[in-house]
Amino acid sequence: MASITKEQLIELLNKDLALEYTAIVQYTQHAGVIKGAMYQSIQKELIVHAQEELQHATILASQIDYLGGVPTVDVPPARVSPDTVTMLQQDLDGENDAIQRYTVRISQAEELNLYHLAQQLRNILAVEQEHAMDLEQALGK
Ligand SMILES: [Fe+2]
Ligand SMILES: [Fe+2]
Repeated sequence: MASITKEQLIELLNKDLALEYTAIVQYTQHAGVIKGAMYQSIQKELIVHAQEELQHATILASQIDYLGGVPTVDVPPARVSPDTVTMLQQDLDGENDAIQRYTVRISQAEELNLYHLAQQLRNILAVEQEHAMDLEQALGK
């Protein structure tokens, strides 16, 4: 017996979708205000991240609709800071949270035999891991 229902999965995917919206807002704001010559290349990366988060949101919205749910328009608050290193750490925290959530979400989708969804989530997860690597590199981790 599945330990998760389709309705519960839709609810969780809507939380993921909301946090993708937040990531778009946060990356766009951070890319706009980031200072310092040594952060020029990560600034460009943040703009690319924002665009990729929009692709994730689009995929999730269509999957939620396909499952019979209504895609959310909630946007949880983004994290901001006047300090560049703090901003990049906030972005990395968001990515690590996404990696954890999508790892769980893939098993939940497979539990419900939703293999197309699971594959889409795997693609998203791979991109979030790239995002985390970019940020770790910029932070010298
Ligand atoms: Fe994303
Ligand atoms: Fe990301």
